[in-house]
Amino acid sequence: MQTDVLIIGSGIAGLAFAIKLAERKPKTDIVLVTKADRFESNTKYAQGGIAAVMDNIHSSFESHISDTLKAGKGFSNIQTVRMVVEKAPKRLQELITWGTPFDKTPDGDWDYGLEGGHSVARILHHKDQTGLALEKALLQQLRRFKNIRFQTELFATDLIVQDKHCYGTRFLDKNEQTFSILSKITYLATGGSGQVFSKTTNPLIATGDGLAMASRAGAVIDKMAFYQFHPTALVTPNNPMFLITEALRGFGAYLINHKGERFVFKYHPEGELATRDIISEAIFKEMQKSGQDQVWLDCRHLEKEALQSHFPNIILQCKKQGINLFKELIPVAPAAHYQCGGIKVNSQGKTSIKALYANGECASTGLHGANRLASNSLLEAVVFAHEAALSVTAELNQHKSIPPFSESEISVSQKPVVSSEKINHLRTNLQELMYRFYLNKSLEMSLKPFSAEVDVLLSKIKSLSVAHKPTQSLWELQNMAETARLIINDTLYE
Ligand code: FAD
Ligand code: SIN
Repeated sequence: MQTDVLIIGSGIAGLAFAIKLAERKPKTDIVLVTKADRFESNTKYAQGGIAAVMDNIHSSFESHISDTLKAGKGFSNIQTVRMVVEKAPKRLQELITWGTPFDKTPDGDWDYGLEGGHSVARILHHKDQTGLALEKALLQQLRRFKNIRFQTELFATDLIVQDKHCYGTRFLDKNEQTFSILSKITYLATGGSGQVFSKTTNPLIATGDGLAMASRAGAVIDKMAFYQFHPTALVTPNNPMFLITEALRGFGAYLINHKGERFVFKYHPEGELATRDIISEAIFKEMQKSGQDQVWLDCRHLEKEALQSHFPNIILQCKKQGINLFKELIPVAPAAHYQCGGIKVNSQGKTSIKALYANGECASTGLHGANRLASNSLLEAVVFAHEAALSVTAELNQHKSIPPFSESEISVSQKPVVSSEKINHLRTNLQELMYRFYLNKSLEMSLKPFSAEVDVLLSKIKSLSVAHKPTQSLWELQNMAETARLIINDTLYE
């Protein structure tokens, strides 16, 4: 298959770019691919919302810039921060025009939410399910364009790169046959890698595929040491972790330890509204002291009706796991949440490989630095989707056709398939290793042994890949291990 523009990923970074480009280039052939169904993505699960300065009364560009830089601890790129913050209102206005139902107060003003690290409330949201509302609106918009072909359940395995130029991507289809899509421009929007850790808020799709593909192809990868843990994921026995939005602390919920004491002020003067890195570290330290695997969120003092109207899904999910948050404490612990680093891109979303762009959680734009400010991720994705669409529009006028390139079309491997037990076993080992790594880092304990341990696991996985049929689960395992190695090496050696 051939196309003008190949987009991999149907979260906010992929969808917003597809819409922007199709609006500008209605005759350009665009193929949009996801390995899952249309909706499945980190985007779909976003809760708190999207940060932006919509007027100069409630907030200001300067305060949003200063909060972002403070959260990034000196590792953000100041030009990127300014660009994203100043372009935010226009991009938000577009999301609204495209049908995103951000909540309003009875007076008709935006119902701004507050989260950690923000000096004022400036987060637009739809109840506690902003991501779902965004995905719905974007997918609905996508239908307007006849020049976008949307393919689900296609798994990208590798980029086709020669002499630092990207010519397209290899895929596995549902029947695990391999084939290629050649493209003038390839745009990676494959999201994050939370599945690398045993405790995560991310869904199963977040396996670092795009990052690993770009790294294998020789793209510059940046700031992988900075993995963000979210302080409050719900932990109950035998259930996957579920995020309890930071907006709940913005709304007044307290964090308390095993003695029933509020403890965050011991670690930071901003208490429950300090940035995520500070609160996660404080929780790890409290957990170490108590020997327990959790602390608790306390909402019992909050007004019932207001809670019900702002956090209906949190209330429901807690209820499903046997917790009545109006009367009971919510057990929570930190969990891997967001990959701050990624494939290095410039201000237009271009990677170090020609004709290859990246955006969203798989990319490193310089916005986040060592730690991401809450609700700046969805914002970054929409701002960079717009910048990339402008750049790709100009670039397409130069690439008249795909340079001649020979790829064998379809191939079926005759090699044996690795058992799912073996894959799950290695996956669990890797995830546990990475959680221990992060815990040791937070508690300032030794990290040296982890480099050798991850190398051993990665070489086992690579040997399996050589000897067996390339299935999606085997590729994902390898991508996760490569991502883990990038995180560890960047932490230890950069
Ligand atoms: P995703 O939305 O993750 O999309 C990735 C896409 O790539 C998916 O379609 C996936 O199927 C596809 N894909 C991946 N690999 C392949 C492959 N090999 N082949 C083909 N397709 C592939 N941020 C905020 O700013 N505000 C919030 O309130 C917020 N809340 C969050 C709550 C939760 C529970 C989580 C997990 C994250 C939250 N975040 C929030 C972070 C934010 O949601 C993500 O960073 C953002 O949605 C990432 O968007 P994306 O388009 O880059 O990737
Ligand atoms: C949350 O709602 O707590 C998550 C927000 C984010 O990841 O920015």
